[in-house]
Amino acid sequence: MRKILVVGYSQTGQLTRITDSIVEPLLSNDNIEVDYHCIEPKNAFSFPWNFFNFFKIMPESVYMKPVPLVSYPPIHKQYDLIILSYQVWFLSPSLPVSSFLQSDDAKMLLNNTPVITVVGCRGMWLTAQEKIKALLVQANAKLIDNIVLTDECGAGFSFLATPLWMFTGKKKSLSWVPKAGVSDEDIINASRFGNAIVERLESIEPDLTQPIMKGLKAVKINEKLVFSEKIGHRSFKVWGKLLMLIGPQDSIRRKLGLCFYFTFLFILIVTVVPITALIIKLISSVFSKQIAKQKQYYAQPSGE
Ligand SMILES: Cc1cc2nc3c(=O)[nH]c(=O)nc-3n(C[C@H](O)[C@H](O)[C@H](O)COP(=O)(O)O)c2cc1C
Repeated sequence: MRKILVVGYSQTGQLTRITDSIVEPLLSNDNIEVDYHCIEPKNAFSFPWNFFNFFKIMPESVYMKPVPLVSYPPIHKQYDLIILSYQVWFLSPSLPVSSFLQSDDAKMLLNNTPVITVVGCRGMWLTAQEKIKALLVQANAKLIDNIVLTDECGAGFSFLATPLWMFTGKKKSLSWVPKAGVSDEDIINASRFGNAIVERLESIEPDLTQPIMKGLKAVKINEKLVFSEKIGHRSFKVWGKLLMLIGPQDSIRRKLGLCFYFTFLFILIVTVVPITALIIKLISSVFSKQIAKQKQYYAQPSGE
């Protein structure tokens, strides 16, 4: 019997639907046992988000400051495979997930265990995945695959559509803004990843040290976002440090600091993101080799 653990957290239920679609083929197999571990913060993050509540957690998300979690004893101590799903908050793994990965429970479960990461986000996940990789190395886990599903409206529109969803709770709150979130079609088609896992587990000597998702289009790298993410993350780090120094999360001082920050962030989104995208487009033919290398790096281990 193969033991698989599915670990995750989801606010709107989107990531749960994605992992359910992936895990479905495993559930109908008699040789596979699937356990779930839902990450639950002691103080729930409320959805829809209030504007200040959304931004006030930026510093702690970026610096991955753990929040207290409800602790559930794991059913087994060792699994053959862990499917770890997470969403991105401010170019970093969401706070519940980064907190879990730094916990003793996680370190015990992940030690010497193959891991498949599943990301459901707006579209900017490269830096978050680098941070997850580092946390997995610290926990002595082996990342064998990465599956990423992003919002259907694309990188540009999602800058507006996803925050509107987060603040109103509605995926389509304005008629002229495309629907936010991962498409139903992409979620349904994610079952192909589960089929691939079953196929690997049913082989005579299943090798869980090598990628399973090669050739299945598990990730798609948008090279235009590589530099935007680097610049964005650097600015989150600088502002994050400053905001934490100004005052704790619920202080008036943090709120005032955030007002300055909103202005800066707005300017960053409407200038740096399109400008870097344009620069990348212009120089892409000159630096095609370097860009291809970057794409290949970020697409690992599953490949595009
Ligand atoms: C506080 C916050 C920050 C977010 N930042 C990002 C981000 O930097 N990049 C991104 O692609 N998506 C970002 N998102 C979107 C989420 O990754 C995710 O798509 C959305 O929250 C739905 O996930 P759920 O399964 O938890 O409901 C953010 C969402 C929240 C709530």
